[in-house]
Amino acid sequence: MLLGVNIDHVATLRNARGGVEPDVVEAAKICEENGATSITTHLREDRRHIKDEDVRTLIKTIKTKLNLEMAMADDIQKIALEIKPHSICLVPEKRQEVTTEGGLDVAGQLEKVTEFIKPLLENGIVVSLFIDPEKSQIEATSKTGAQFIEMHTGTYSNAFGTDKEEQEFQNLKNAAELAQNLGLKVNAGHGLNYENVKRMHEINGLYELNIGHSIISRAVFTGLGEAVRKMAELAK
Ligand code: PXP
Repeated sequence: MLLGVNIDHVATLRNARGGVEPDVVEAAKICEENGATSITTHLREDRRHIKDEDVRTLIKTIKTKLNLEMAMADDIQKIALEIKPHSICLVPEKRQEVTTEGGLDVAGQLEKVTEFIKPLLENGIVVSLFIDPEKSQIEATSKTGAQFIEMHTGTYSNAFGTDKEEQEFQNLKNAAELAQNLGLKVNAGHGLNYENVKRMHEINGLYELNIGHSIISRAVFTGLGEAVRKMAELAK
């Protein structure tokens, strides 16, 4: 299984001060040097973390692959067609949400999704649809021309360690199998952490995981000691 690292929260921290620190380009470099096989960023319609300039710079500086998460918005599609990331992942987006809350309803808007992704596919961009692990959504995705699904693992992640875990895990396993039988490749992400990620190995043929929050959260603590030591030296 490959690992795509979502660096949106590095931009969130940077934007809290409005300056340039911490630098998302440097963050992407560190991720790549330590095993990330792609860099994921979500260019949200409200630009609350990653900005247009970030994706324009990242596409030139990263050594692996840029995976651009995006909603079905014309202005973002225009940017995607201009910078041509390796892949895009189409997600639903609500302005008030803290993070992506559910999967894209592909079944309910099959024609719209198919039309929206057409120019992206024609330009050689790999397309993935972020969907809940549901039969109807998988079957619909297989009719759109998208090559990948990204299974929303949020419900499984929330259920992890409870009596609902097994059911939610089986939903992911069955969904992956159905998608693969229909010719789709399968990624997974959302809410995965250092514990619940282990079961992803029980799902046959998973291609790539996309993980952000737990990695950036851990990095704060694994890096905080060194950061304080360095400043304490300077303050002495
Ligand atoms: N995949 C998709 C489509 C997402 O929207 C997100 C959150 O931005 C992730 C993966 C990563 O989720 P998390 O930050 O919970 O690891």
